[in-house]
Amino acid sequence: MILAPVLSEPECADAAAEIAARWGLPTQSSKQDTFQLWLREGVLALHWLESPQKMSPLVVDFHQGKAAYRAQHTQLKNEAIAKAVGVGGKLQPSVLDATAGLGRDAFVLAGLGCDLQLIERHPVVAALLDNGLQRAQQEADFIGETCQRMHLIGTDNLFTGKGFTHEPDVVYLDPMYPKTGKQKAQVKKDMQMFQQLVGSDEDADNLLEPSIARAKYRVVVKRPNSAPFLAEREPNSQIKSKKHRFDVYIKRGFNESTN
Ligand SMILES: C[S@@+](CC[C@H](N)C(=O)[O-])C[C@H]1O[C@@H](n2cnc3c(N)ncnc32)[C@H](O)[C@@H]1O
Repeated sequence: MILAPVLSEPECADAAAEIAARWGLPTQSSKQDTFQLWLREGVLALHWLESPQKMSPLVVDFHQGKAAYRAQHTQLKNEAIAKAVGVGGKLQPSVLDATAGLGRDAFVLAGLGCDLQLIERHPVVAALLDNGLQRAQQEADFIGETCQRMHLIGTDNLFTGKGFTHEPDVVYLDPMYPKTGKQKAQVKKDMQMFQQLVGSDEDADNLLEPSIARAKYRVVVKRPNSAPFLAEREPNSQIKSKKHRFDVYIKRGFNESTN
């Protein structure tokens, strides 16, 4: 796994050390660093030192860009992810996003009123997401309130079973899928940096069974349209969007008792 040290100017050294300790990251730079995390004025940013083109640092900022726009303009009928998870009417299932990444999908679901527990195993990604959530949660606006429904609980909880505040209604999975040549060319700059850091999740098949065990009602798996089923297991239903499909594994209906 590629790691990155957490660095800062001397006046933020304590806060940087705290982040490093929480996520098990180094605090010293080294000549071998490909990536570095810099904490400046409370904002944690990932710098790719050998990026092929000059790339801006990667920051999780829920108040900026597409994420903010999408959260404020999300309409249930347009969101395939909402249909797949089962959001609608009075139903706002609680969701465990077990592959949280930069929290973009979770943010859409939280914007629709769902409560989210988040797991992200890559410590650099988890540190960026945690910093973005903490900053957003301090704002008393729609985005701040949305982020208050998102709780990052750790890196390996799906397997250890630790840290859950409740059993989720739905488990959501979106593991990294190896990119084909055509997809590579289309990847946006910030996602190129993310892919370089995280790689592809070759062990993703292992996520399905524990997710089915943990979900009360269903598991939703986001896949590129051309990808095979996770763990070669056929879902009960599929919801398709332009680039992706959502494979839905139903354990029981939302109106069926869990006893
Ligand atoms: C494609 S990204 C998820 C993107 C996310 N849905 C979003 O909207 O930002 C996949 C993420 O899953 C994480 N991941 C893969 N396997 C995991 C596991 N076993 N436990 C926790 N996180 C995992 C990877 O580190 C990566 O950050």
